[in-house]
Amino acid sequence: MLITPQSGKTMGVVVEGFDAESATDDDIAKIKWTVYQEKIVLVRNQDLTPSEFLSLGRRFGEPVSYYEPMYHHPEHKEIFVSSNVPKDGQQVGVPRTGKFWHADYQFMPEPFAITLIHPQVVPTQNRGTYFINMSKAYQQLSDELKVRVKGTTSRHGASRYFKIRPSDVYRPIGELVAEVRTHTPPAAHPTVFIHPVTGEPTLYLSEGFTESIHDAEGNPIEDGLLQDLFEATGQLDTTFTHDNIHLQTFERGDLLLWDNRTLIHRALHTTKPEPVASHRVTVLDEHDRLGKEA
Ligand SMILES: [Fe+2]
Repeated sequence: MLITPQSGKTMGVVVEGFDAESATDDDIAKIKWTVYQEKIVLVRNQDLTPSEFLSLGRRFGEPVSYYEPMYHHPEHKEIFVSSNVPKDGQQVGVPRTGKFWHADYQFMPEPFAITLIHPQVVPTQNRGTYFINMSKAYQQLSDELKVRVKGTTSRHGASRYFKIRPSDVYRPIGELVAEVRTHTPPAAHPTVFIHPVTGEPTLYLSEGFTESIHDAEGNPIEDGLLQDLFEATGQLDTTFTHDNIHLQTFERGDLLLWDNRTLIHRALHTTKPEPVASHRVTVLDEHDRLGKEA
């Protein structure tokens, strides 16, 4: 197994010579450690069935099935399917997911530690996922912003990007919004936490899910702090040229793993009507969910 930095990139490594079937526990531990340290790990030449992909995911942690069943793989509910490719005339999974800055399950009390993606159908154009390393983004904040964010808590909710399900047709929108708030009430997390493995102070907020920021007494801070943090971290850059933004591309046969505590991401959707599909497994690990408040 050979691990090398991604050429021409400031983040991530490439793993070659990994065989999921014969991988030892040491191999898995090494890749997992590398995910925490390097944030993105791209494993080449993985031709895995859904069942093999899920089995591999289990070796990294405890897979969690997505709370909305419409995303589930028909045979393995732990696999989240993003796809616009019908199977036997039926929609499988959900098309056009995640086109906004977020961390997976940020709006839940227990966000995932590691996300694994196994692309199934890769478009020819505009492929890839944008990432921002929020530990690095924190380091780069101005001293003034670091002072303003200290000791705050952020609340994250799912309602802004909740996708209407087929069963929601003809339902009043107000009823649906109320249901989203009841099923997934906003989750509160420290805005800056200490990564439980690397010890890095990390900003935990995203333009897609973070709704409000609160002081130590729980009062909302309404002086534009949240917008200032989105701006400073690069999340409002519609040209995606901000120094913090990393574009990760992948090929069919790649397996992509990332540190979902540290990275926020945003799907880059093809502008042409091309088929695209990917499988995702998300796992909890043995460490504290986010880590201590910084
Ligand atoms: Fe995502």
